[in-house]
Amino acid sequence: MNQAPIPPRTPRFVQLHQSDDGAVRAELARGLLNDPAHLHPKHLYDALGSRLFDAITELPEYYPTRTEAGIFARYAPEIAAQVAPGLTLVDLGAGNCQKAARLFEVLRPARYVAVDISTNFLQATLAHLQRQHPTLDMVGVGLDFSARLALPPLAGAGPRLVFYPGSSIGNFTPLEALAFLRQARELAQGGGLLIGVDLVKPLALLERAYDDALGVTAAFNRNMLLHINRLLGSDFEVSQWRHRALFNAADARIEMHLDALQDVTVRWRGAQRQFRQGQSIHTENSYKYTPAQFEALLREAGFSKLHQWRDAQDWFAVFLACA
Ligand code: AVI
Repeated sequence: MNQAPIPPRTPRFVQLHQSDDGAVRAELARGLLNDPAHLHPKHLYDALGSRLFDAITELPEYYPTRTEAGIFARYAPEIAAQVAPGLTLVDLGAGNCQKAARLFEVLRPARYVAVDISTNFLQATLAHLQRQHPTLDMVGVGLDFSARLALPPLAGAGPRLVFYPGSSIGNFTPLEALAFLRQARELAQGGGLLIGVDLVKPLALLERAYDDALGVTAAFNRNMLLHINRLLGSDFEVSQWRHRALFNAADARIEMHLDALQDVTVRWRGAQRQFRQGQSIHTENSYKYTPAQFEALLREAGFSKLHQWRDAQDWFAVFLACA
């Protein structure tokens, strides 16, 4: 008797994040009227900002992406030896899903859950990946996990390996990072966390990585003003602002700012903000850790049995921890 053919799998999607335009405008106005003014780094990533970030990852000065990829390429079998096959791999900030996809073969997960702010970005990518990995169960989740990290039932039960590469943890303050890691541990109960972390290193290397010779990072930072104009209805003129990146050694973080090149008045519905020449808007922090500091943070969040792998120059670390 002929067996009925098994139908090919198709990825499933659930969009949990709904943007509240009024709340976004109120948050932006609060940040701009603050002294010093600040904007949340998530606003760096409109469609153009995301493409500029992809370009940043290819710059000679921006070592994190390349260095992390080198660690995974070299140590994937060692990492996989510590991870039980058949887990659900939860990829936070999945983007083009490439980093996780490179690990499918060694980690052999049963299910892949790609989480990003919008499933729109994930549709085509997961459909493509599903063709290459026809037996892997795939779910795309649209979630703003910087607000709260909780998955829908569709994402499946059973042990999970939470994957958070790229040192995105550095864009949280250490306190926010601790709260986030606690939520990640809850999500991964019985499984683990695989996370990439950028390490403290000489100032010149750090500052160059965030102020490259081609000016791509400057464009990435200044493009945020165009995004804010669309979100808030403001009238920022990009040409009146310059990008500045500095390493704040006391707080072990790169800071990105936009400095007014002249006196500027920015207007939006019902409000305005005057900036004197040289006054700035703080747009991003990127915290750097020593291996010991990050280990302590993981333990404080409740993780145990830590493993870590670093590149030969000790620029970047990948940690695996049991939840
Ligand atoms: C996404 N995140 C880890 C990057 C970083 O290095 O903090 C964002 C970035 N900002 C400027 N260059 C890259």
